[in-house]
Amino acid sequence: MKILGIDTSCDETAASVVANGREVLSNVVASQIEVHQEYGGVVPELASRKHIEAINFIVNKALAEADVTFKDLEVIAVTNRPGLIGALLVGVASAKSLAYCHNLPLLGINHIEGHIYANYMVHDTLTFPHICLTVSGGHTLLVEVHEGWQYKVLGGTQDDAAGEVYDKVAKYLGLGFPGGKIIDDLAQTGNPTAIKFPRPMRNSGDYQFSFSGIKTSVRYFVEKARRAGVLVEVGVGLSSPYKDTNPNTVTVEDIAASFQAAVVDVLTYKSIRAAKSTGAKAITLTGGVAANSQLRASLKTAAMEIDAEVYYPPMNLCTDNGAMIAGIAYEKYKQGLRDGLSLNAAANGSIMERK
Ligand code: KG4
Ligand code: ZN
Repeated sequence: MKILGIDTSCDETAASVVANGREVLSNVVASQIEVHQEYGGVVPELASRKHIEAINFIVNKALAEADVTFKDLEVIAVTNRPGLIGALLVGVASAKSLAYCHNLPLLGINHIEGHIYANYMVHDTLTFPHICLTVSGGHTLLVEVHEGWQYKVLGGTQDDAAGEVYDKVAKYLGLGFPGGKIIDDLAQTGNPTAIKFPRPMRNSGDYQFSFSGIKTSVRYFVEKARRAGVLVEVGVGLSSPYKDTNPNTVTVEDIAASFQAAVVDVLTYKSIRAAKSTGAKAITLTGGVAANSQLRASLKTAAMEIDAEVYYPPMNLCTDNGAMIAGIAYEKYKQGLRDGLSLNAAANGSIMERK
């Protein structure tokens, strides 16, 4: 059963054809990063406009690369929630018109369910129930995933998403956008214990997260260091004249490593706690921040102690894509779910709700 999956929830125009939920025949993504880069974050209005320009081309490319036509498809699936409303509407309008023209069933999909499904597409050994940590620019969610794609949401962020704080901290440090990979790379040569940034809600006893406190703390630290003239910019390092002249000197690399240590510590601690308390023997990591080297390493080490396995998908299934949407749509379609042409987009939407 071949399904076309479309995702335009944020700043990527994505379409993919997947057979039987797991066999990715094509996975085409047009990134808008260059458009948003100069603003240091995604500009919703620009995102919608770029989706409109790209959507037909991307869908056709996905079909061509999969070597199929609309006649070969059984379903058209599209992310209809949650996300930037204007951006979502482009994908939904496109999917609706294609479903109507080609007389195909339509299925609206929750973007987070797509992220959760991504690991299942590539890891045959993944068992249920498992704990899934979705961490991206827009989301931070800890979920218990049961057979039949039934979920129990354990917790999420009360303010900023994990990726969002990476992007903002990178902005304070003047490092560019998106900041996740830049900070991850800089952190490799920094000292993660140089500065003790707070770990909000680490010991709250629940599965909620809060990252805005870490972000603000880094911001004040950077501003203060700049004012005092002790901030050493990237690549300079703490070699002689600096350290000798002022013992308070701090490098951007140390700030990156210390910030990352705080974020990773909280994410790891709560994910492991969730696995322990539910008895799940697998933890999956998904979303753009799942690419983070320190998060992967830290979770792996901690999971070993509780005899659990850690999974993450390849990068093209970690970040936003249409394949994960077509994948979960396959399961939903088998469960009998269908949508009509009245399908609408929604900026919010829990994975616990059908709509
Ligand atoms: O899943 P994604 O591509 O888009 C959203 O749905 O948001 O995630 C993008 C986010 C950005 O915030 C980016 O900075 C972050 O993922 N990211 C990383 C890394 N690579 C990308 N964060 C930390 N470490 C990385 N290596
Ligand atoms: Zn996403």
